[in-house]
Amino acid sequence: MHVAIIMDGNGRWATARALPRAAGHRAGADAVRRVVRAAPSLGVRALTLYAFSAENWKRPPLEVEVLMRLFRRHLLTETRRLAEHGARLTILGRRDRLSNGMRELIARAEAETANGTVLDLRIAIDYSARDEIARAARALVERGAPITREAIDAALGTAPSLDLVIRTGRERRLSDFLLWESAYAELHFTDVMWPDFTAAHLERAVADFHSRTRRFGALAAS
Ligand code: IPE
Ligand code: IPE
Ligand code: MG
Repeated sequence: MHVAIIMDGNGRWATARALPRAAGHRAGADAVRRVVRAAPSLGVRALTLYAFSAENWKRPPLEVEVLMRLFRRHLLTETRRLAEHGARLTILGRRDRLSNGMRELIARAEAETANGTVLDLRIAIDYSARDEIARAARALVERGAPITREAIDAALGTAPSLDLVIRTGRERRLSDFLLWESAYAELHFTDVMWPDFTAAHLERAVADFHSRTRRFGALAAS
């Protein structure tokens, strides 16, 4: 199955502990490692993580820098482990506003993990679902291709189709994440702040998903 996670609540987790928000982001990175490790054994073959939205540039420059530094460090230190575990890493979102160093690290990490078959790990950085849809439509127009549902699916690179969206951190909204892809995804909201999210929470969310009846507009099988 394909699970996507809106990893929210790092800042509030830190503030509740009288820590700087940066400490929340660092703890959030540990949660990413836990979840990536647990995913395959729970039947999760594709995992898309929302790490930085196109709107998150509105945050104070120091916080943005902390996040970018964390992304760079983890690309550098985690890539080999991902490759060893058979994960294939892809970064979603715009690249043109990232630093050269970051772009290079992304290219290297994607190349080094390109043969992974156990887990399709997609991390969204400088991502906006609306921008992605507009970009897909523009690409089709430029090619003179018909704008069909299938063509937009293909242009977005959506396969495998999205089954479950989890949002941690108490908010109940999508914040411009995978809007096209979540058309028939199940939604799971939890009050757990992202740094506290464990493999057991992922397991609970997956069990919740399996308890749902997906009808896709048809009648349930009797
Ligand atoms: C999620 O945690 C991480 C990013 C959006 C980069 P937040 O930083 O949004 O944490 P809260 O919502 O302020 O608690
Ligand atoms: C959504 O979290 C983006 C990520 C988790 C990367 P935000 O904290 O930015 O979302 P809003 O502002 O509460 O909608
Ligand atoms: Mg937030």
